[in-house]
Amino acid sequence: MTSHLDNAIEIAQEAGALLRQYFERRVRFELKGDFDLVTEADRASEKLIVERLTSIYPDHGILAEEGSGHRSSSEYRWYVDPLDGTTNFAHSYPVFNVTLALEKAGELIAGVVFDPYRNELFTCEKGAGAFLNGRRIHVSRAAKMGDGLFSTGFPSRRRHLDVNIHFYYQLAMASHGVRRGGSAAIDLAYVACGRLDGYWEFGLSPWDMAAGKLLVEEAGGCCSDMKGAPHQLTSPAILTDNGSIHGEVLALFSEIFRGEFRHPMPVLPVKDYTV
Ligand code: IPD
Ligand code: CA
Ligand code: CA
Repeated sequence: MTSHLDNAIEIAQEAGALLRQYFERRVRFELKGDFDLVTEADRASEKLIVERLTSIYPDHGILAEEGSGHRSSSEYRWYVDPLDGTTNFAHSYPVFNVTLALEKAGELIAGVVFDPYRNELFTCEKGAGAFLNGRRIHVSRAAKMGDGLFSTGFPSRRRHLDVNIHFYYQLAMASHGVRRGGSAAIDLAYVACGRLDGYWEFGLSPWDMAAGKLLVEEAGGCCSDMKGAPHQLTSPAILTDNGSIHGEVLALFSEIFRGEFRHPMPVLPVKDYTV
């Protein structure tokens, strides 16, 4: 019998192939908000995914970013981001993915993140581990925050309210560096396979995180809110890492929340900008 994960993989690969075609021919963007982009590729991918899911699972609920999902009384619910990394995509910056996850009775049970540009398929099932192109993956072994490479993201909506630049600077100064990849699900998948030691973001939606969160957990990592409480999908903020460095990152974050900075930012104006 085909499993839920097998179905999710097939659908993600089909949607990924569609995204790849749109990517090659470059698409125009529209704006959902001042800086919140959407393209015809987002809509076409979501249409394909929602149609496929609905034909296999007519009674399951679907929460999809572009709004074509539906509620249901079923204990099963799919989270769908038909194109994660739309801003990258619209600028031909090749970091994007399609991601799907399945929840049963409030618990994530399967997830897929597919990067069609690199042909990288990240998959997981609750209790059965996480995989990249069929090979088991694990989080990194970094024992110290200072030895880590991190990633973060900045929201497209209400971005003038976002305080993340302070966290970005402090963690960049306290580690090997902080990347801003532009695709939350890929950031999470990269924590799961050890390419990144940690990732955090303040303004996410459930479809950005659902599959990636399960990937990280199944790869041996840790997800919490910014203060160390268990992460809920309904919470827009997530801090995730290999687990070994979680306490150290939380300690740094709690100082920043209090307005205490280990590393003061350079003061402007300056006469000489070279270092
Ligand atoms: C966005 C990306 C980005 C993150 C934003 C998300 P979208 O998703 O994941 O990396 O920083 O918060 O909204 O809009 O491209 O699907
Ligand atoms: Ca997204
Ligand atoms: Ca999206």
